Amino acid sequence: MESVDLYLHNAEQVVTCASREPKRGPEMAEPGVIGGGAVAVKNGRIVAVGPTGQLDESFTADRVIDCTDRSVCPGLVDAHTHTVFAGDRAAEFELRIKGASYLDIMAAGGGIVSTVRHTRAASVDELVCSATVRLDEMLALGTTTVEIKTGYGLSVEDELKMLQVIERLDRDHPCDIVPTFLGAHAVPPEFDGNADTYARCVIDEILPEAAAWYASSRFAARGVPMYIDVFCEDHAFDLEQSRQVLEAGIEAGFKAKMHVDQFNDFGGVAMALELGAASVDHLDVTDRAGIEMLGGSDTIAVPLPAVNFNLGMADYADARSMMDAGAVVALATDLNPGSAPCPSMPAVMAIACRYQRFSPAEALNASTINAAYAIGQGEVTGSIEVGKRADLLVLKSGDYRHIPYFFGGNPVHTVIKRGQVVDL
Ligand code: NIG
Ligand code: FE
Repeated sequence: MESVDLYLHNAEQVVTCASREPKRGPEMAEPGVIGGGAVAVKNGRIVAVGPTGQLDESFTADRVIDCTDRSVCPGLVDAHTHTVFAGDRAAEFELRIKGASYLDIMAAGGGIVSTVRHTRAASVDELVCSATVRLDEMLALGTTTVEIKTGYGLSVEDELKMLQVIERLDRDHPCDIVPTFLGAHAVPPEFDGNADTYARCVIDEILPEAAAWYASSRFAARGVPMYIDVFCEDHAFDLEQSRQVLEAGIEAGFKAKMHVDQFNDFGGVAMALELGAASVDHLDVTDRAGIEMLGGSDTIAVPLPAVNFNLGMADYADARSMMDAGAVVALATDLNPGSAPCPSMPAVMAIACRYQRFSPAEALNASTINAAYAIGQGEVTGSIEVGKRADLLVLKSGDYRHIPYFFGGNPVHTVIKRGQVVDL
């Protein structure tokens, strides 16, 4: 008998999402269910997974969790968020109900820029405090790894402040964080609509500071990559500006991501693929040619359906065709105060199943293993496999399909982060 720290057994299902590479197309339909399953954890890592009958013979543990009538799945991975910000945009929410569009509000000086004003006025401590409340809620809803973008600072000083906040969160919060530099999120008011000049400022002034920060950060020390992202859209950055920013970021050692085709298709997917981007996110108006390109590419497609739901849109990214074309598809909340005030990956899965025709298995793979690969963490988390970090969820139901099926509540009974049961 081997002694371990934590042993979960008698689970109706252990849903492993196991894969040594991102799941593409039809592979996403395979959840990897072990009926009557068990998982053993030692030193924060998974040391065994299999049928309870077999593992009961091999393991004793300090702490045993009986998962009768419950199921176990990997901790969820939220691969695209703007979790650090100050203020809120409830007034814009109400304006939109009365008929204003997201881009109208942005053009009138609201939207992202209004959150920039509040974020610039906030201290590191205030931002850590408000983001911690959000991360606590995300963790309770099953998210154990989170990508967080800057992009509400938009000056050297304020982007660095956001990076410091992101590092503090990674140090002090149970969630693991992956950082993304989004200096090219919007054109700040002091640049008076001059996106070209601001894009140069991002490249020449802010990016070098962000790169220097990363080099001495805890992320670099632990081998966690840093990403660079750009919002390629009307009232934000055009294709050429986006290319220049991403190329400069790649040159500085970051991996590329892109907010692309949310409202307008400028040809961003082709460019992102050419640059070898890790992911392209939103994809609402991506055309058939773009979908085919994604089907043949390693760049991960990340639709963000909480945005469409929140903006009351009738149309959603055609993720069904992307999966059918053989693309690697991941899901994320896009948590932010404007387009997606949503901390819940289970809610995102519920929307994706209803409006984008993901099966529950596809939604789960998109929210675990594929999402982990979208942020460079696929070797570390996102599935229940020996050697991986013990980021696990005990679900209230014995059937994992209840995550998207029974929507609006919290399907998670117990969160286990790095082998520790989280006190929720
Ligand atoms: O992903 N599209 C650009 N950025 C965010 C919105 C941020 C905001 O509205 O504050 C997004 O939707
Ligand atoms: Fe976003």
